Amino acid sequence: MDEFFDATITVNGKPVTRRVQPRQHLIDFLREELGLTGSHYGCEHGACGACTVRVDGEIRRGCLMLAVQAHGRSVDTVEGLTDSGELGALQQAFHERNALQCGFCTPGMLLAAQELVATCPDATRAEIREFMSGNLCRCTGYQAIVDAIEEVIATRRKGAPR
Ligand code: FES
Ligand code: FES
Repeated sequence: MDEFFDATITVNGKPVTRRVQPRQHLIDFLREELGLTGSHYGCEHGACGACTVRVDGEIRRGCLMLAVQAHGRSVDTVEGLTDSGELGALQQAFHERNALQCGFCTPGMLLAAQELVATCPDATRAEIREFMSGNLCRCTGYQAIVDAIEEVIATRRKGAPR
């Protein structure tokens, strides 16, 4: 018989409590229990970054973390970060640079890019490529993604709003 655990997680700023199975992954919890389908299932073993979410302020693979491990912690998804406007500059740059085609990788790309922009405001193009190398894209060839992130970093460096 399956055991259950009452997990309370602050998701996009709001506490939620659900009875979860200990083996349920965080990405499944977010998508299936809460309907937050912006973060995607890709490889489901930590290789592609499609499932990227933020846990206690740092990006994590939602497919490598159990929902019970997020008990008592704060989780942000692309939906919450879009609503807060935190991703606005990157979303605009991705749009303008055609940095997405099917969009499957894009939520994970945006969360990873936001962490880079926040933690490494002087990142070079090579550093952007290195940092983003854990997020895979089958469509774009990566150039436009790197262009978009580079533009956001350059604009911030100049002190403009983006
Ligand atoms: S689905 Fe999690 S890294 Fe690919
Ligand atoms: S835009 Fe299709 S996988 Fe990246």
